[in-house]
Amino acid sequence: MARLTPENVTRARETIALYPQTRSALIPLLHLAQEQDGWLTPDGIGHVAELLDLTPAEVYGTASFYDMFFTEPVGKHLVSICTNIACLLNGGYELLEHAEQSLGVKAGATTPDGEFTLEEVECIALCGNAPCLAVNWRFFGDVTPTRFDELAAGLRAGQLAEEVPPHGTLNRVWRTVGLVAGVPAEGRVAVQDAPAVAEAEPPADTVKDQRGQREPADEQATEDAAAEADAVEGSDEGAAE
Ligand code: FES
Repeated sequence: MARLTPENVTRARETIALYPQTRSALIPLLHLAQEQDGWLTPDGIGHVAELLDLTPAEVYGTASFYDMFFTEPVGKHLVSICTNIACLLNGGYELLEHAEQSLGVKAGATTPDGEFTLEEVECIALCGNAPCLAVNWRFFGDVTPTRFDELAAGLRAGQLAEEVPPHGTLNRVWRTVGLVAGVPAEGRVAVQDAPAVAEAEPPADTVKDQRGQREPADEQATEDAAAEADAVEGSDEGAAE
């Protein structure tokens, strides 16, 4: 049960600086705390609350709402087996039953050695390779019982450490650059090395708005095209008369 490490506090402050409202950083900070400990400990939740000027109850309320956050200890490998329609039709339940027998725990439980937590989940968007599962949110398709046993053995032996990161690791690249919230900097922590939005060189032909949508940079060209369309429409109407 740990508070965030000094390194993660720095990351948390950098993340908070990306948002116009401090509390908007709640979900990323929960991922950060979960990445550190594998689950959201009471101390971790308390520390996130402190950093965001929220109460622990508010943070817990959000954490307990989302399936991807865990407020109880989770095994080293979180095995999530899909039993939604495509997987169900291709042996998803048989795969789940096999996993329960093979690991010796029911869905929702953790093996006594803390190696695996098994859970049944809804569609994980790999339907074309049903039946499928995820381990620490990394996906494996066309999983037969034999392949499941091979996978579990490889995970237990640490042979898939490169492919499957520790539980809680959402992404391996931490964002420290890019767009930042367009609010005054006073009282906020600057994002290290992040270029100011105004200084960024826009591409020659397009610009990106804050939602990442592309817009035509040449407004004159757009107006010309509209005028031309009006002219064609007008001549069509004239011809019809
Ligand atoms: S139904 Fe299993 S991944 Fe979509």
